[in-house]
Amino acid sequence: VRREDTVTHILAIDQGTTSSRAIVFDGDIRPVASAQLEFEQHFPRSGWVEHDPADIWVTTVETCSGALARAGLAARDISAIGITNQRETTLVWDKTTGEPVYNAIVWQDRRTAEICEDLKAAGHAELVQSTTGLLLDPYFSGTKIKWILDNVDGARARADAGELLFGTVDSFLIWKLTGGKVHATDATNAARTLIYDIHTGAWSRDICDLLGIPMTMLPEVKDCAADFGETDADLFGVAIPIRGVAGDQQAATIGQACFQPGMLKSTYGTGCFALLNTGTSPVTSQNRLLTTIAYQLDGQPTYALEGAIFIAGAVVQWLRDGLGIIRDAAETEPLAEKADDGQDLILVPAFTGLGAPYWNPNARGAVFGLSRNSGPAEMSKAALESVGFQTRDLLEAMHADFDFSGDTVLRVDGGMTASGWAMQFLSDILGAPVDRPVVAESTAKGAAWLAGMQIGVYPDMETFAASWEKDTQFVPARDESWREARYESWKKAIAATLSMTD
Ligand code: G3P
Repeated sequence: VRREDTVTHILAIDQGTTSSRAIVFDGDIRPVASAQLEFEQHFPRSGWVEHDPADIWVTTVETCSGALARAGLAARDISAIGITNQRETTLVWDKTTGEPVYNAIVWQDRRTAEICEDLKAAGHAELVQSTTGLLLDPYFSGTKIKWILDNVDGARARADAGELLFGTVDSFLIWKLTGGKVHATDATNAARTLIYDIHTGAWSRDICDLLGIPMTMLPEVKDCAADFGETDADLFGVAIPIRGVAGDQQAATIGQACFQPGMLKSTYGTGCFALLNTGTSPVTSQNRLLTTIAYQLDGQPTYALEGAIFIAGAVVQWLRDGLGIIRDAAETEPLAEKADDGQDLILVPAFTGLGAPYWNPNARGAVFGLSRNSGPAEMSKAALESVGFQTRDLLEAMHADFDFSGDTVLRVDGGMTASGWAMQFLSDILGAPVDRPVVAESTAKGAAWLAGMQIGVYPDMETFAASWEKDTQFVPARDESWREARYESWKKAIAATLSMTD
């Protein structure tokens, strides 16, 4: 039995690339308890990255129970669930037994590079970009589905017979949580599959035909705040409604209340994803950014331009695990502060190629400007600065694609934003204010708000946006000539790095 008088809590599930998390939010959209479990990454071959679907599922359920226990709440105290997730990661499972036919192929997986090259060579890039807003890159789900159907024994025949279902992680979790009753996704996750028409809001028959994907496999696409069914009562003791879904970068955009055209956020995790709200008409990028759906409410999509860079926080991991010059990420900032300012070291962290706006999978990292007295302090500084430089690249492309009105303010979240030094450099190199919010959990907060708003326990968009609060604003402390000289050095370093690439 639900305690109707006290049910104001929302449970947000954040199923990410390296861990699953669950966070309980109270009636004021404040996080009150959370649980997190990491799971194994599988690298069966170079460039391949897989997850065991059972790990995704089990860690999700366990973190939900764990977060509830820590909050001292039972399932009956939860009004609704919001789901946010690593995007593009691809699952195919049997409609009857629920058995996945293959591991989840993770967004980072490059195995379909050749399929993408062949499609480009055959002249399909234009159809793909104009329909989906995306580029023909292995990053997205479409070619991963094709790979599964082409390479798993019997998969294509079973898919043709209507026996298999496809889903991104949100879909898979909805299907499992509802005991196989609901096969659905939301528009933001659909927008990352390479088979969804972001203009008409429907799966693209042309691209499905091109990739040989039977449309019977595809989930129903809903708004981000919608009825995604109820959890099976056996799972948590009572059925809990699922009422909010968004891909993690979109959920962070929502959590950061970037609801007006020209507002943008950047999330610094392993990589960095910046999304710029462009309003209700999609903007086609001339600068190799992605056009995507920021959120869809009441049938109305709001679009975004997205820039993705692969190495942000990961560069600090490299200082620790690769170079061994720090033992803990927190040591980076004090080291960077000690660096000799006279040395202009530039580190291009192209460890896994370069993402937006260069999209060069073959590029590799480089360091420029080393001298005999360059050491751990200068390397730490260059590592933190590389994140700022890459963000500037994204903002340059965004400015070229879209006319921002007013002053640009970047709202930031993610682990790296804990470094005040890195955030100050970011503001200096952008020449724009950088706002760090009070609630650092932007992604989970976005998912929670969607679900809570849908069932009426959380306020509407305007009130929610007005309640967004910054903890710190970093403002540029350097002048224009410093800024342009440093950025020029970065551009030269990028050009030199790319010239070393096949
Ligand atoms: O597009 C990939 C992105 O959604 C992954 O996010 O935070 O799980 O690494 P994260």
